[in-house]
Amino acid sequence: MENEVCTAIGTPNKALVMYWGKRNIKLNLPMNSSLSITLDEALNTRTSVLFSTKLKNDIMYLDGQKQELVTSSERKISVLRSTLDEVRKQSGIKGHALIVTQNSFPKSVGLASSASGAATFVYTVTKAAGLAMGKDDMSIMIRNISGSGCRSIFGGFSAWNKGTKSNGEDSYAYQVVDQNYWPEVIDVIGLVSSVKKKISSDEGHVITTKTSQLYTARFTQCEETVAEVVDKIKKRDFEALAYLVMKDSNNMHAAMLDSWPPIMYLTDKSREIMERVHELNDSEGKAVAAYTFDAGPNPHIITIKKHERKVVELLDSVLGEGKHYVAGQGAGPRLLKDSDSLIDLDKLKPR
Ligand code: PMV
Repeated sequence: MENEVCTAIGTPNKALVMYWGKRNIKLNLPMNSSLSITLDEALNTRTSVLFSTKLKNDIMYLDGQKQELVTSSERKISVLRSTLDEVRKQSGIKGHALIVTQNSFPKSVGLASSASGAATFVYTVTKAAGLAMGKDDMSIMIRNISGSGCRSIFGGFSAWNKGTKSNGEDSYAYQVVDQNYWPEVIDVIGLVSSVKKKISSDEGHVITTKTSQLYTARFTQCEETVAEVVDKIKKRDFEALAYLVMKDSNNMHAAMLDSWPPIMYLTDKSREIMERVHELNDSEGKAVAAYTFDAGPNPHIITIKKHERKVVELLDSVLGEGKHYVAGQGAGPRLLKDSDSLIDLDKLKPR
């Protein structure tokens, strides 16, 4: 509603079958379907939104930094602008927006901050405008901003159907099972590096789609892999799931390396952790943990709660103590109380 602050919290997701490569850059339409776990609030984005006729322009603060929303030609910014215009059109709201957003974790290091940010942005902005929008439509709106973010609107395990239509109306996420179906599955994330990556995922998607020969084999295989992963989740078969998750990560990073210029997100530490996970599984006589890496060097080790300690010890021994997050499964974005607002309503500024 105009002149009222709306605040919400949302979270990243970690893909188990990863989206890599676009068939339409402008609309973020993927070459392949993908599937992820929405994480709990161990890592989160908080966003407050106010629509007010007292504002002269749309203004956004991200982690304390004012963003150039009005003039920037950067794709990510212009899509935020057009999202706000679309929300105004659908709701009849006339005022400009003040958006204040804060991440609890580092940006641009492969921890899906843009996915979490985009999902929380769309959720909060549509709620602030009083729009009764369904999650399918929110998922499409999020996808336009951050492809992988479209899965973060649902809790538990969700999949993103690649769709076939050129306008993207059939390319959105759906929930496979909610966070209560198999809550034992968690993600232990190691912080190998928080240095901004050299090749952004936006650039990487395009480079691999255009130049990697291995990639053709990858994206055609992904549809089958998603179906298999759904089956293993429904059967709560961790061993079979772990195998598919590690194979998918290795396959995507192989296609990245096969791109030109080669894209190398993994470091020696990442590879050391991969070896250690295989050693752990060998010593247990079965898969108790599975590594998977996004577009960055930080390992996500998918495991089940009873093995959390072993996985944390493994990460501590390679990275030093405390360089990890443990995230369970989240429920997707939710509204917070007025007292959690990040906006000073009198000054029309961040608090
Ligand atoms: O949504 P983007 O453009 O940040 O791409 C993310 C791609 C991966 O994180 C590597 C995989 C995924 O599906 O999340």
